[in-house]
Amino acid sequence: MTTPPAVVDTAVVKRLAWLDLSSVQQRYERREGAELKYDYVVSNIGLEYRRFLFLRLMYPDLDIAPPPRIAAYWRLHAADRVAFDADRAAVAVATPSSADRLVPPSGPVDDPASFSKDSTVRDLYAATFPCGSAEVWGWPDLMPGHRNSAPSLGLVHRRLAGAIDDCTRARLLTEARQRRAMITEWHDDGYYCSARRGTVNSPMRSCSATPGQVLLDVHWSDAIPRLIAAETGVVVVPTAASYLYYRSGDFLGIHTDGYALELTLLTLLSGAVEPLDCHLHLADASLEEIKALAETAGGLPAGGTPFGISTEPFLLSGQRIPHQRGPRDRDEETVVLCQNYAVLVP
Ligand SMILES: [Fe+2]
Repeated sequence: MTTPPAVVDTAVVKRLAWLDLSSVQQRYERREGAELKYDYVVSNIGLEYRRFLFLRLMYPDLDIAPPPRIAAYWRLHAADRVAFDADRAAVAVATPSSADRLVPPSGPVDDPASFSKDSTVRDLYAATFPCGSAEVWGWPDLMPGHRNSAPSLGLVHRRLAGAIDDCTRARLLTEARQRRAMITEWHDDGYYCSARRGTVNSPMRSCSATPGQVLLDVHWSDAIPRLIAAETGVVVVPTAASYLYYRSGDFLGIHTDGYALELTLLTLLSGAVEPLDCHLHLADASLEEIKALAETAGGLPAGGTPFGISTEPFLLSGQRIPHQRGPRDRDEETVVLCQNYAVLVP
């Protein structure tokens, strides 16, 4: 088998991460009918598409075919010829000949039979992206889950000034109010560890809505990933995003965030919200230790550091840092914007 490159080309990683795929993502979501409810593949397809392109560029001698759903995304990207040509020129600027590697073949690329059946691509993927998503690619599990997908990320718990300006926040709130009628309720009473996803969960009650056009435009542009890289040095790409509506009785028990949720950006759009308690001292605790602690305290153990959620966005490495939100006791309108980011190449 071909071994992965010893040194990842960070310039290529940045160019792939900072492609503005908002139009592609919107067309893909419409195609999948994903406007109304959270969908794991839809949230992570852009991440895995970029990883597919990265492998195409890193291994020019290999014919790396995409699985059908990534092939479909590739076709949507290439369908806007002007934007696509600009994107591939931007990505391949250091090695112009490699731009051809980014063009879908003229024949069918979404035929499952064309997706490599041997283990070469899967092995390369697993070596390059530990904790990547076998689910999006359609493979059986790659490996046991890890506690953290991107150890190099470190602990992040800070404000990200300038990520969402006042005008954008007002437009997002208008959209959030429109989407209030189509919420999904989340309600769980259990305590779980998932070795596969590297997460621990405890009881919770909340509700959320999927993004509309305004949030899709904001979330899938390259602006916030560039800002995160400038402030933290980490190259991330957008994954899930949602509007969170806080009702009386809602709470989130202590938990860690899962696959492709290395960073979460929380911005208050309306009202006032209970602080997020972040257990910084549990960043290296095992899932079982966190679960045991949760069970002794009804899912809401003491000892966390409270961080206020305000109009100045708060950035948290929620996969590393277990966090929780205490029960709410009032019913005034409160809306929080939740945006998630994944490290493209850990
Ligand atoms: Fe979380």
